[in-house]
Amino acid sequence: MGNSLKRVAVLASGNGSNFEAIIQAVEEGRINCSVELVFSDKPDAYVLERAKNHKIPFTSFMIKDFSSKLEYEQELLRILKENQTDILILAGYMRLIGNELLEAFPQRIINIHPSLLPSFPGLHGIEDAFNYGVKYTGVTVHYVDSGIDTGKIINQAVVDIAPDDDLESLEAKIHQTEHIIYPDTLAKLINKGE
Ligand code: GRF
Repeated sequence: MGNSLKRVAVLASGNGSNFEAIIQAVEEGRINCSVELVFSDKPDAYVLERAKNHKIPFTSFMIKDFSSKLEYEQELLRILKENQTDILILAGYMRLIGNELLEAFPQRIINIHPSLLPSFPGLHGIEDAFNYGVKYTGVTVHYVDSGIDTGKIINQAVVDIAPDDDLESLEAKIHQTEHIIYPDTLAKLINKGE
């Protein structure tokens, strides 16, 4: 990608606490990129409010407004291209990425998942690990491929499940860890300028 400032778009569906952690790191100059766009497939997602607060352009539309996922992704791709996006960062984007986007951003789509992959992929990584009774779970930053949380692992952090943890306290620990590891990993990756 060369050494120019990377243009990043963030895709998110919900609260956006990871987006917040990332944008703070960018504002502090820790990640050498400019966040050019936040997209949400949920028009009422709180992440859009966060984008507004940080004066980051944002847009939103729903898959149900299109006749197919392909058309939805084509529109998203059109916007991303218009923005000259180099890297796509998923931050709680609750959809599988289709071929349209995967092909346009080879090894350029990054996600965070709240478990130690390949254990506990899918929508309920924290709860599934808690219910299974593992003593250690964690967080994984990985490239996105066409599978569910199957892409190449970039970084992981371990979170212990203490005997007195309940689901809520575990969720808090996981999110706290995410907010450290995601910006740090993105900084390492993006600042290398590869
Ligand atoms: C995080 O737990 C992340 O690992 C998962 O979705 C959640 C998003 O949380 N992919 P937030 O919207 O960033 O607060």
